[in-house]
Amino acid sequence: MKSIKVGLLGIGTVGSGTFNVLKRNQEEIARRAGRGIEITMVADLNTERATELTNGEVKVVNDANLVVSNPDIDIVIELIGGYGIAKDLVLKAIANGKHVVTANKALIATHGNEIFKAAQEKGVMVAFEAAVAGGIPIIKALREGLTANRIQWIAGIINGTTNFILSEMRDKGLDFDVVLKEAQRLGYAEADPTFDIEGVDAAHKLTIMASIAFGIPVQFDKAHVEGITKLQASDITYAEQLGYRIKLLGITRQTAKGIELRVHPTLIPAARLIANVEGAMNAVVVRGDAVGETLYYGKGAGSEPTASAVIADLVDITRLATADPEHRVPYLAFQPNAMADTPV
Ligand code: NDP
Ligand code: HSE
Repeated sequence: MKSIKVGLLGIGTVGSGTFNVLKRNQEEIARRAGRGIEITMVADLNTERATELTNGEVKVVNDANLVVSNPDIDIVIELIGGYGIAKDLVLKAIANGKHVVTANKALIATHGNEIFKAAQEKGVMVAFEAAVAGGIPIIKALREGLTANRIQWIAGIINGTTNFILSEMRDKGLDFDVVLKEAQRLGYAEADPTFDIEGVDAAHKLTIMASIAFGIPVQFDKAHVEGITKLQASDITYAEQLGYRIKLLGITRQTAKGIELRVHPTLIPAARLIANVEGAMNAVVVRGDAVGETLYYGKGAGSEPTASAVIADLVDITRLATADPEHRVPYLAFQPNAMADTPV
């Protein structure tokens, strides 16, 4: 069978990791997907750097429109970020009959409903495992592993940058601004790091998880969002002295009034597992009525951990794309739940 042809939009931190892992593990990935998966075209503003990163092995263009309109491309990976040009490109790719993989939580949390509708109408798939908790397969866990459950609540450390800042401030007594710069250098932070430190990035991810867990449309505007910018070093020290750790948590749960969506710094007893999640690591606790509490832990940001999730989506789509379309479950659009409340 001929290989699946992939077009990559944006070869920055996650894009370069995706290219490298796909190349390094190409045989295993092809075996698991049932056929080869090949990046044949890359678009990036910096074509010189993109050519260097891809060792001159693939066609590199400056204009991403050339990728989404290329009839030879089966799947488009969007790794540019933001909701301006990225949204236009994703919608164009869908309109051109291409499946889409993205790590862009901002895009999915704010325009997911429109994107899923367009994809469903066109009969293509949109996958976004990498958009939540980097390398942790939490979307798969919610959609597949826990599919028998009524989800009662989800609570998680879902922003690596803020967890890294809180850990470094506590352990090394470093200043907020110094640690933020280090998080940017390590490729954890968003292009606009206020999204991280003001809790917006965590709220994007929480909104996406709630949509899947409760079967509701994505509704980012309903989330309560509070970041870590008002915290002082003394808050962290006092919490420590009282036997607590401060973590930026995203929490969503079904209540008598509806579905809660909130992100804010939280005091957690130091003995709890989640209180000991340090650095850019993420952890998500999901409680289902049948399974009870489950915990997912791993790298929530960074080049190859995030690439791991992007490639998992590529493999899923490659497998499903060859399945009978009549019997294909619409992939990763939320499954509407008529019983679910809307967020309060
Ligand atoms: P980067 O900024 O490292 O990479 C983005 C790349 O896209 C850059 O090379 C940029 O070029 C290029 N680009 C910008 N505009 C265009 C355009 N119009 N056409 C083509 N290329 C363009 O971002 P990341 O890799 O860190 O993030 C990508 C996505 O993944 C974002 O949505 C982010 O939220 C998400 N994500 C990131 C994680 C991480 O750990 N970094 C983890 C999980 C998700 P230039 O540099 O010249 O502007
Ligand atoms: N900026 C994000 C974080 C990247 O720090 O968690 C991963 O989504």
